[in-house]
Amino acid sequence: MDSDVDSGSIAKEIEQGVFTSLEIEIISEVILREISGRLLEKNKTNAITKSLIQGIPNGNRNYDWNVGSILRHFPANSLVETLGVMENAPLHNSIGLTWVLGELKNQHWIIVNYLRSTIVHARCSDAWWRAAFSLESLGLGDAINILKMSLKGHRLSELRENLLHLDDKRCIVGILIQSNVDNIEKEIYPLLKKRFLESEQIAETVNCCWLLGRLRLIDNDIYDHLLKLSGSENHEIKYYTFFALQNNANETLRPVFERALKDQDSLIRKMATRGLLTIGNEAARQNIETALAVEQEEDVIGEMSQAIYCLKNPYDRNRLLIESRAFRNENGMISDESDKWYSDPAIYHTFSESEDPENVCLNLVLRNMKGHTFRNPIDLGTGTGRMIWPIMDTLRYQGRFYAVDASEKMCDFLLKNSKRERKFTHNLSVIRSTIEDAPLHISDVSTFILSSFGFPSHISNKKRCSKELQAVDHLLADDGYFVTIGWDETFNDELSEMWYRFIPDDIQANTFEDWRQQRVARIQSPRNCGLTWFKRGIRVPLQFDSLKESANVMGYLFGRDAAQYVVSTGRTEWIMSLGITCDRKQDLQAIIQKYEGN
Ligand SMILES: C[S@@+](CC[C@H](N)C(=O)[O-])C[C@H]1O[C@@H](n2cnc3c(N)ncnc32)[C@H](O)[C@@H]1O
Repeated sequence: MDSDVDSGSIAKEIEQGVFTSLEIEIISEVILREISGRLLEKNKTNAITKSLIQGIPNGNRNYDWNVGSILRHFPANSLVETLGVMENAPLHNSIGLTWVLGELKNQHWIIVNYLRSTIVHARCSDAWWRAAFSLESLGLGDAINILKMSLKGHRLSELRENLLHLDDKRCIVGILIQSNVDNIEKEIYPLLKKRFLESEQIAETVNCCWLLGRLRLIDNDIYDHLLKLSGSENHEIKYYTFFALQNNANETLRPVFERALKDQDSLIRKMATRGLLTIGNEAARQNIETALAVEQEEDVIGEMSQAIYCLKNPYDRNRLLIESRAFRNENGMISDESDKWYSDPAIYHTFSESEDPENVCLNLVLRNMKGHTFRNPIDLGTGTGRMIWPIMDTLRYQGRFYAVDASEKMCDFLLKNSKRERKFTHNLSVIRSTIEDAPLHISDVSTFILSSFGFPSHISNKKRCSKELQAVDHLLADDGYFVTIGWDETFNDELSEMWYRFIPDDIQANTFEDWRQQRVARIQSPRNCGLTWFKRGIRVPLQFDSLKESANVMGYLFGRDAAQYVVSTGRTEWIMSLGITCDRKQDLQAIIQKYEGN
């Protein structure tokens, strides 16, 4: 079709304020570049930019794309000046404009503000989506994380409802937020596959493609269909197909990427480079090196040279491997209310051993208990036994040491560990029980009951808190102490900020401060059940030994975006703001009486 399109006459029309040719169809990249070149020769760049942008609110999609592609070759300051004087609100549904602002690689505040307000105000979900990718191109965050965060301020539709609107990008991100290991297998994969194979609608096809690629749900049928679509005439379908392939690249796909390195479209060449990078072998590197030798487009040159570095340089290669192995689950196990994040005790063990590694909190408690000889200490919600060993090393006790946890896997892990550590010499009893039922399993009373990040088991469930408090009271001797270690409940720390950024919880908030205040407001008293602070504001790190450990554990618990963030920032440490409560028997009884009174 482009053979009929004459760049000279279109440029002339544009100069005279006539734009009809831009509305008829999406014009090829090559012709649009020529048009830009001719317009730039006229030395009226700002006026032309303004007149092109003024036509965007009319809502013609072809016009929108063509204008975006023309402006891509204009100097950034002409767009900055135009956006600075025009009312931006009518432009927020433009996909072309949001796209080009990312391509200009200019962080002028007018551009950044425009993109950020598009994320907040765009009705068109494609413009909303595109704005996030432009912010990512400008180095201002990860696009999907930006989109997930933007939905955090709203109530999400049910997963089923989102799956019924696969043509809407907001629903696609909604599905990502709601995905977990179970519903991906049972609901998301079968429905996505069906719609992907059957759909004749472009928006739905590209979105299915993207989601299948992101969640790595490529079976043989999907793979064959992707390969078929990779030769599509439609730009969008082709891009999204390559996205899915690039995310799921393996050696069998290498010839496809090798061919795509010669594609007319620079974005496809970039994606082919990423696919070859994922394959990561010697042949893939050679393919990229050969292509770099003839590549002319700066963007692609950048992508290719970085890829060669990643594949050649031992330091970068190591990061690449860490990154690719850490990205397994979309949301991370921590987001699951059903305590699935404890389902792998080995990973949880590394996490808990990395919290306050110098035991500043526990030492504060033990120092206060100096001189006492305790009877039958109990650790509630013991997990992999993080607190047990330092207590045994420091505290003298008579009777047994009871380690209580509801999870069978945690108890098994702890039992094996205690055998390895010969802890049977310290009368350790590992009890599989909930806190509530612990009195059914322990007949002794204790003078020291501790719980580190374990009490109450569900802070928002008041009824359960009350029952667990009664269980503690039942087990505590008249002269006993009940101590809990955990958050100081201000949530004003770096690890809480990670939670806000990466965990799709039910708090609707647009900023960390907003989120933090809502979280604080949900807890009415220490541990939400009237305990007494012994010390607050203890700042200790969660500190991993290596980047690999940090990416693996944080990726497993907080999800793939968190892992990506960890690898790209090289981060291995986060500050936590912790607090300790300490109560005597009579304090607990007063609280219980108050509960009963209510
Ligand atoms: C956050 S971990 C804390 C583990 C350990 N105390 C630490 O500091 O690393 C909480 C532990 O409580 C356990 N748990 C969850 N609900 C429980 C309940 N109702 N009763 C007993 N244990 C529970 C989990 O299996 C998990 O091992």
